[in-house]
Amino acid sequence: MPAESKNVTVVGLQWGDEGKGKVVDAMARFCRYVVRYCGGANAGHTVTVDGERFAMHLIPCGILNEGVCNIIGNGVAFDPTVALEEISQLRDRGITVGPENLRVSAAANVVMPYHKLQDRLSEARLGDAKLGTTVRGIGPCYADKANRSTAIRVADLTEPSVLSSKIERIVAIKNNTFAALYDAEPINAEEISETYASYGKTLAPMISNTGKLLRDGIAAGERILFEGGQGSMLDIDHGTYPFVTSSSVTACGVPAGAGVPPSEVGQVIGLIKSYTTRVGTGPFPTEQDNDIGDTLRQRGNEYGTTTGRPRRCGWFDAFAARYAVELSGVSELALSLLDVLTGLNEVKICTGYQKDGQDMDVFEPNTMAKMQCVYETLPGWKADISGCRRFDELPQEAQNYVARVEQILDRAVGVISVGPERTQTIPHHTQMEGLFA
Ligand code: GDP
Ligand code: IMO
Ligand code: MG
Repeated sequence: MPAESKNVTVVGLQWGDEGKGKVVDAMARFCRYVVRYCGGANAGHTVTVDGERFAMHLIPCGILNEGVCNIIGNGVAFDPTVALEEISQLRDRGITVGPENLRVSAAANVVMPYHKLQDRLSEARLGDAKLGTTVRGIGPCYADKANRSTAIRVADLTEPSVLSSKIERIVAIKNNTFAALYDAEPINAEEISETYASYGKTLAPMISNTGKLLRDGIAAGERILFEGGQGSMLDIDHGTYPFVTSSSVTACGVPAGAGVPPSEVGQVIGLIKSYTTRVGTGPFPTEQDNDIGDTLRQRGNEYGTTTGRPRRCGWFDAFAARYAVELSGVSELALSLLDVLTGLNEVKICTGYQKDGQDMDVFEPNTMAKMQCVYETLPGWKADISGCRRFDELPQEAQNYVARVEQILDRAVGVISVGPERTQTIPHHTQMEGLFA
C-alpha cells in the first residue's frame, strides 16, 4: 500500500467563484506542483498580492510563487490563445513564466475557434432556453473530445502536417453543420492551421507528459495541490444539469483530469463563500433578487471574472453544500468572503428544503428549482473584520456564524478569508499543519 498522500485538493462547493484562486495561491508555496485538472478558460481565478490583482483563466494560481511547477492537466479544455495572452501579461508584470514553472499536458484537448463560434451560435439559437455559458467554447470542445474523430489535442499542435490534415477534415464537417444549422459563413481551415501551428511552436518547450511528471513527483515525495475549477453544483454529472459546465469538477475529477491514482487526491479542502453566488442560468433556491442580493453584489463586487456579468447573489445554502461535501469527501472547509456579510443586521443560512410543506430528506440537484428554503436566522455584526488575523479577534456574532456552518456541514472550518489579499486569512481548525502558516 502506498503511504498516505500528502497532496491537497481545493474544490468549490457552490456554483464557482468561491475564492479558489486566493486560497490556492496562499497554500502554493508549500507545494511543488499546482495542477488544473478540469474546465478551461471559463474559469476566472483571482489572486491579490500587495494590492496587485491577477485574474487567471488557464494558468494555475501557483504561478506567483517561486519554486512551484504549474501544470495544465490532460482534463483541461486548453485554449492556446488565452494561455499565450496570459503568459505574456504575466511576463509584462515581471513574473517568470517558462518550462521551469509551467507545463501543459500533451493530452489536453484544444479549444478551437469553431468551438467558440459554436458556443455563441448555439446560445443565441436557444434564446430564453440558453444555458448562460461563458461562450469560451468549453461545451463544444469537450463534446469533440468525447466524439474523438473531431478532436485536436495539444500534441497535435507541434506536428504541423498532422494538424493541418486534421483541421482540414474537421473544418469541412463544421462548415457543413454550421451552414445547415445556423446559416453561418464558412471558416477558413488553412488560416486556423497556420495560426495554431505557430502556437504549437511557441508552446513546444512547455508541452509534456504531465501525468508522468506528477506520478514521478509523488514517488519522489513531492506535494501536489490540485486546483479545482468551477464549483460542485456545476459538475457535469452531479450538478444542476443541464445548467452545468462540461467537465468533472469535484474531487472525483482529479485522478482522470491529472493522470494520478485516486489515492493521490489527498486532503480535500471544500471552499465555500459565506453566501452564495451564481452566474448564468439555472436553479438557485436561496437567490435574493432584492435589496439583500444587491447589497451582497455591491459589497462582494460580484461581477464575473471571466465575462463581467453581474453574479446572482443569495444566502448560504448549507443543504446544497452538505451534498457537495459528501460528493468530494471533503476533509475540511475554507470559508471565504466572510467580510462581505459585515454590516447586515441578520444573516440567514438555508438548512433544508421543503416541498408542499414536507421536509426533503435527500438533496436532489435536479428538483431544487421547485423547493422552498428553510432558513435559520443569526444576528449579524457591524465591526470591520478585514483586519482580523486571529479567530478570537472576530466579533462574537461572526464566530457564531462560523461555528454554525461547521455544525451544519459536520466539518471543521480550517481557514477563514476576510479579504482578497493573500494575507487576509485566519487559520482556524485546520489539520493541515503548515499549509496556512
Ligand atoms: P474563484 O473563481 O473561486 O477563484 O473566485 P473568483 O476570483 O472568480 O471570485 C472571488 C472574488 O472574491 C475575487 O474578486 C477575489 O479577489 C475576491 N475574494 C477572495 N476572497 C475574498 C475575501 O475573503 N473577501 C473579499 N472581500 N473578497 C475576496
Ligand atoms: P471559476 O473556476 C462561475 C458557469 C457559466 C454557466 C455554466 C456553463 O471561476 O469558479 P460553460 O462556459 O462552462 O459552458 O458555462 O457554468 N461557469 C462558471 N461560473 N465560475 C466559474 O469558474 C465558471 N465556469 C463556468 O456561468 O452558467
Ligand atoms: Mg471565478
